Amino acid sequence: MKNIKDEWVQIALDLTSGLSSRDRFERLLSTIRHALKCDASALLLFKNQYFSPLATNGLDSDVIGRRFAISQHPRLEAIARAGDIVRFPSDSDLPDPYDGLIANEERQLQVHSCIGLPLMVNERLIGAVTIDAFDPTQFDKFTNKELRIISALASTSLHTALLMEKLENQSGENSNNSSFERSSDNSVEMIGESLAMQELQANINAVANTELSVLITGETGVGKELVASALHQRSSRSQQNLVYLNCAALPESVAESELFGHVKGAFTGAISNRKGKFESADNGTLFLDEIGELSLALQAKLLRVLQYGDIQRIGDDNHIKVNTRIIAATNKTLSDEVKNGDFRADLYHRLSVFPIFVPPLRERGNDVTLLVGYFAEKSRIKLGATSIRITPEAITLLNEYSWPGNIRELEHVISRAAVLSRAQHYDSDLVLTPAHFLIKKEEKTEKNITHQTDDSQAENTKDLRSATDEFQANLIKKTYQEQHQNWAATARALQLDTGNLHRLAKRLNLKD
Ligand SMILES: Nc1ncnc2c1ncn2[C@@H]1O[C@H](COP(=O)(O)OP(=O)(O)OP(=O)(O)O)[C@@H](O)[C@H]1O
Ligand SMILES: [Mg+2]
Repeated sequence: MKNIKDEWVQIALDLTSGLSSRDRFERLLSTIRHALKCDASALLLFKNQYFSPLATNGLDSDVIGRRFAISQHPRLEAIARAGDIVRFPSDSDLPDPYDGLIANEERQLQVHSCIGLPLMVNERLIGAVTIDAFDPTQFDKFTNKELRIISALASTSLHTALLMEKLENQSGENSNNSSFERSSDNSVEMIGESLAMQELQANINAVANTELSVLITGETGVGKELVASALHQRSSRSQQNLVYLNCAALPESVAESELFGHVKGAFTGAISNRKGKFESADNGTLFLDEIGELSLALQAKLLRVLQYGDIQRIGDDNHIKVNTRIIAATNKTLSDEVKNGDFRADLYHRLSVFPIFVPPLRERGNDVTLLVGYFAEKSRIKLGATSIRITPEAITLLNEYSWPGNIRELEHVISRAAVLSRAQHYDSDLVLTPAHFLIKKEEKTEKNITHQTDDSQAENTKDLRSATDEFQANLIKKTYQEQHQNWAATARALQLDTGNLHRLAKRLNLKD
């Protein structure tokens, strides 16, 4: 340990320096790599039975986006429960969460060295450091005492970072808005570290804990619903209901009753009193999804509620006071709808007091890689596979694609690729290569989309069915963009019945 002492001193000094947490964590891992001569290491945050990587060294780039449930990973579970460093026997048959994920290595992690350092603060587990090496005797020369020093330094480093975040966020009075805080069931976790996502997170944090109405806009599949739940979770209403209403799925005849409720006998079939969504969301949040689809008549009624804070059940003369916060979402450009006379200007202004734009995936840089890791781990669990690796060529391909269907499309693409790989190889170690992805490098620009139909099919001998599917999908995507993302107009342009287009688009995974 003598030769490495200086490095540990440096780590201890780093703790008090002005480095960002990320830099500090990375420095810690590169020091560990240097000192212990390991092939891979990771610093993980522990929360609600999940480990989330905060920094990695020597691991594939998508690992940062993965979330490891301890119930799914016996090694991580052992580390979480141990209370002290864990040395796994080199021939341990417990699967390693990083099997196949050591950067630039095809090797499987069969016989290898693996150490887990739980990071504790006041006897509470806050994270872990994992250290792997291909050489099965690599860590024999280090004593437990030495490893505990690393553990202590890493704990302090992580604990300091968490405290700093808390302090920085105190002005917002809300501890939920930390970028380290990650939800237990992943319901609100938004994966992504790009500038566009940081900006989005900052906007969410700015408005969450106010009473303002929020209008969430953005293309299909960008995560608008996720943003809505984040807003609710981070608000003072988080203990109350978040009530969801999809305005597009509401037949005119029941919409009013859904929103405002009715009293017995108000109309044929109203056999008892019934609360509407507004009342269910009293003191909580009402999420009006696809608000652009609301009829003009209901827009007028909604405006009234926003102005006076009370509602009337159908068939009832009494007014009921409600304290409901409205969050609305749409993938339409509402200002255009206003111009066309399809959306009331006054309602638009009320709703868009605080507009939040959710950026398309193609503007989120390397977040694609993190999301690939995130969904790959989910697919692995779903398929009961031991490991899942995405080759660097596949990562490049996925990063070059333009993702018109955004995160939802990426989720489907990964899940389909995993199923395909599983079916082809009957192997529980899945490897996703470009061949498993039915997307094309060329799709990044408009120009290439048009070229693609003649060139790429020739170079790529696929069966007729998938070639036809691909051609149809591309034509639909292109027309959809040309028609300003309006499905009805796309159907007209392609001379298809709207219903048939919807079904076709669904089958081709272009929409849900
Ligand atoms: N940053 C993210 N990290 C992880 N998962 C995400 C992220 N953003 C979106 N998702 C997932 O992608 C899918 C689509 O997201 P969501 O339903 O919120 O999109 P949307 O904008 O409401 O789409 P639409 O306009 O079609 O209704 C969901 O399964 C959601 O959980
Ligand atoms: Mg949605």
